[in-house]
Amino acid sequence: MRKICVIGTGYVGLVSGAGLADFGNSVICTDIDQSKIDMLNRGEMPIYEPGLKELVDRNVATGRLSFSADIDAAVQNTEVIFIAVGTPMGENGEADLRAVEAVASTIAKNMNAYKIVCTKSTVPVGTGARLEKLILQQRNSEVDFDVVSNPEFLREGSAVKDFLHPDRVILGVSSKRAELILAEVYRPLYINDTPMVITNIPSSEMIKYASNAFLAVKISFINEVANLADKVGADVHTIAKAMGLDGRISPKFLHPGPGFGGSCFPKDTEALVHTGEVNGVDFQVVKAAIAANKAQRKVILGKALELLPDMTGKIIAILGLAFKANTDDVRDAPALDIIEGLESLGAVVRAYDPIASTNMKKYFLPELDTRNSVSETVEGADMVIILTEWNELRGLSLPDLKKRMNSANIVDARNILSVDQLKEFGFNYRNVGRSTI
Ligand code: UDX
Repeated sequence: MRKICVIGTGYVGLVSGAGLADFGNSVICTDIDQSKIDMLNRGEMPIYEPGLKELVDRNVATGRLSFSADIDAAVQNTEVIFIAVGTPMGENGEADLRAVEAVASTIAKNMNAYKIVCTKSTVPVGTGARLEKLILQQRNSEVDFDVVSNPEFLREGSAVKDFLHPDRVILGVSSKRAELILAEVYRPLYINDTPMVITNIPSSEMIKYASNAFLAVKISFINEVANLADKVGADVHTIAKAMGLDGRISPKFLHPGPGFGGSCFPKDTEALVHTGEVNGVDFQVVKAAIAANKAQRKVILGKALELLPDMTGKIIAILGLAFKANTDDVRDAPALDIIEGLESLGAVVRAYDPIASTNMKKYFLPELDTRNSVSETVEGADMVIILTEWNELRGLSLPDLKKRMNSANIVDARNILSVDQLKEFGFNYRNVGRSTI
């Protein structure tokens, strides 16, 4: 059991902090946002993640998990400090490391004993070395410290499960002492044979970007295959299934749709391209995946125009605003571009999402006409466009939908509706790679 401080209580920080406490460590989660800390101390969750409240409550109750805005004291009273603050996309795709470096400075000023400074945030290759230099320059005492890279692979919507049961743990270390302490931090995973990849810091930093960028490439690839399938009368689900039967390909992440969004793939792909550029390596494949992803939003818009060539004054019901199901996160969601495109064509947009409407209006589209139910949203609509694969939407009653709509047009950008039923109930429809089967 180790004494841990996690700085940053976002998706990664809060889930990791609660998970590390669940592994038996003593964890203080800190944040500069006092209101978040206050919320957490009231037992309220600042983010929506299945299982998170239970995980937090369980560990607060045992006294292993606490929350504080006093970052200085938290650093002084702990040995392993995880940096889990945001690294948003800055100018020309470069990751903005200001928050990470500010945290490193805070740690440097509170070096009252040996510390391990562990980056869990996704940081470009070379950041570990930069942090080491920064701390050496700014530390308030000559005590020893080690910088470690420990990237996180949790997915929003399954973050708790992904943290507690990861496919692997990556540790980029530069000392045996740090390696042994981190192995102890992750001991429960260690003893149940979770693969541990122990490597140097640059390799660990690269593993995160290479993994995310590869997944993004896979998504853009299947989206392009789907776009061709629509033209030649093929079924992309059958293609993806058959591809996935090849063990080298795997069936995962071969679901076509409106393109990837979220707080990771869009920024991590750009950051990797930028890291390549500054090191004289041209990531042409990742650049192509980024371009294909941007284009996929237009592909969905094109499908809507195939059904309704003149959008002027037409009522379009958007079902799903979150960038994917089981999250309230709308960052870089396809809905942002698609709603903008529809409105620029003169359409009247209404939208529904089980939990993400508040965020969409708070952060991006304050004027968006959001409704509280599918029925309200589709009443009198000329078209429905499904953008998020919420289970609630998988069970849509097509006869009920048709009754409520002004005209029976559906663009199912997540392929969650039955093509046979769409035909049976007389819908004009488009989906992604199955429209003509
Ligand atoms: C991703 C990585 O999966 C995770 O390992 C990393 O830690 C953070 O970034 P996340 O962004 O939360 O996780 O969601 P993910 O489930 O990976 O989906 C990313 C985007 O790709 C979503 O917009 C999703 O809709 C889309 N997607 C995913 C597809 O379009 N098709 C797929 O087959 C899978």
